[in-house]
Amino acid sequence: MLKFISTTGGAAPVDFETAILNGFASDGGLYVPEYLPKITTAQLQSWQQLSYPELAFEILSLFMDKSVISAVDLKQLLHQSFATFGHADILPLYPLKSKQDIYIMELFHGPTLSFKDVAMGFLVNLFDYFLKRKGKHMHIILATTGDTGPAAAFASAGKATIDTWTLYPAGMITPEQERQMTTISSQNVHAVRIEDCPDGGDDIDVLIAELFADEAFKEKLNLSSVNSINWGRVMMQTVHYFYAYLHVVDAVGEPVNFAVPSGAFGNLCAGTLAREMGLPVEKFICANNKNACLHRIFTQGLMSKAPMISCTSSAIDILIPYNFWRYLYFSTGQDGTKIKQFIHDFQTTGKLQFDQETHAILTKGILSDSIADAQTLDTIKQLYAQEKYLIDPHGAVALAAVQNMKTQLSGTKLVSMATAHPAKFPDIIKRVFETENRLPEAAFHAAIEAEKLKEERVLSCNHSNMREVVREAMEQVHIKYLS
Ligand SMILES: Cc1ncc(COP(=O)(O)O)c(C=O)c1O
Repeated sequence: MLKFISTTGGAAPVDFETAILNGFASDGGLYVPEYLPKITTAQLQSWQQLSYPELAFEILSLFMDKSVISAVDLKQLLHQSFATFGHADILPLYPLKSKQDIYIMELFHGPTLSFKDVAMGFLVNLFDYFLKRKGKHMHIILATTGDTGPAAAFASAGKATIDTWTLYPAGMITPEQERQMTTISSQNVHAVRIEDCPDGGDDIDVLIAELFADEAFKEKLNLSSVNSINWGRVMMQTVHYFYAYLHVVDAVGEPVNFAVPSGAFGNLCAGTLAREMGLPVEKFICANNKNACLHRIFTQGLMSKAPMISCTSSAIDILIPYNFWRYLYFSTGQDGTKIKQFIHDFQTTGKLQFDQETHAILTKGILSDSIADAQTLDTIKQLYAQEKYLIDPHGAVALAAVQNMKTQLSGTKLVSMATAHPAKFPDIIKRVFETENRLPEAAFHAAIEAEKLKEERVLSCNHSNMREVVREAMEQVHIKYLS
């Protein structure tokens, strides 16, 4: 049976169920499989006609033993998780008319209109499945820069096994994203708005890390997380790379490029794992906005924290790409002691300069760019002018990077990921079309409009008192599970 170990090497191997329910490994590292299953060309060929849930079943089965979840139950969970998607293909691919061999992968047809729904719905259903079987209840807590929170809140709503706490920095997410969390009426979903966070979501990550480090609190509440620290999220995100690949190639074996708007590196980390498993990827383009935490790593070999810049692609205003540790683990020989040392150096000095050899390994098959807001807005405008296709600011960051990198790319087919629906960012879309008298139709979505009419429910606090307020609220809710 495939076991799961920690990226920092200090935790005993666990089974799939434990890795999922715990979120973090007991030594504070991230769970990874002991080895990555390999996929052959023949397997890929046999998967060419599969629907997305069918393909997900094949890939996920490589990580989960049948004794943990039966094939029938896994199929049922996948069916349930994607039934809420608003497109028959679930993750459709749009071939650009104005540029040959570039496809936009629309990852935003889930219930909260962002790519987070792709992995979150399934992960929360899996939590529920395991918890029901154990007869247990759990508190899930997460920090969100905009899209993870809504996806987790929607997926958890009404589930008796889970209370979900979505913490977000006030003013740093769009009102549309905020309402997606605050208008959920289910009492097991708790939106927490935190004012005055100088480092945005990273400040909240610190609070969450403290709660997890408090063993007594963590045990009492049975605390876990569905941020992309959770292996389940990353595992699920490998599937859309396979799915896109199988849809765009003429013949299996042909290489493909992928462009990914990146923040915490969860999505792109999954892509690199898919490549490691055998997917023929030529290059990944890691597209940052001006918070260039990943671009600095790929171009200068430097991991460092710079002050937050507020960008139009706000969901990728990230300073520390925590899933990078997973990529580092697999690309540098799966050595937990080495990763532990890297993390220690970064935490004590605030930066990490990779040696030349490590830097060369890290950049193998990866290009990166850091896109300014002006180019993001221009990309949205140009694409709409060329083919009446409206892309959101994050998808635009990826497309802009493709444009900038074009001399470094061969004629290989390319899939550029669109990670959110444009209706989640109306102010940005209005800025792009300010001289027009009408906004494109795709700037609106019925689900977003419906939320404007609903009542909001939110717990508010400040960066200075967030620790006490959040703990107290969680304790209060937990009391009812003790009686
Ligand atoms: C719309 C959107 N695009 C891209 C990203 C970046 O994904 P990741 O953090 O996995 O790099 C996020 C998440 O933060 C997002 O919400």
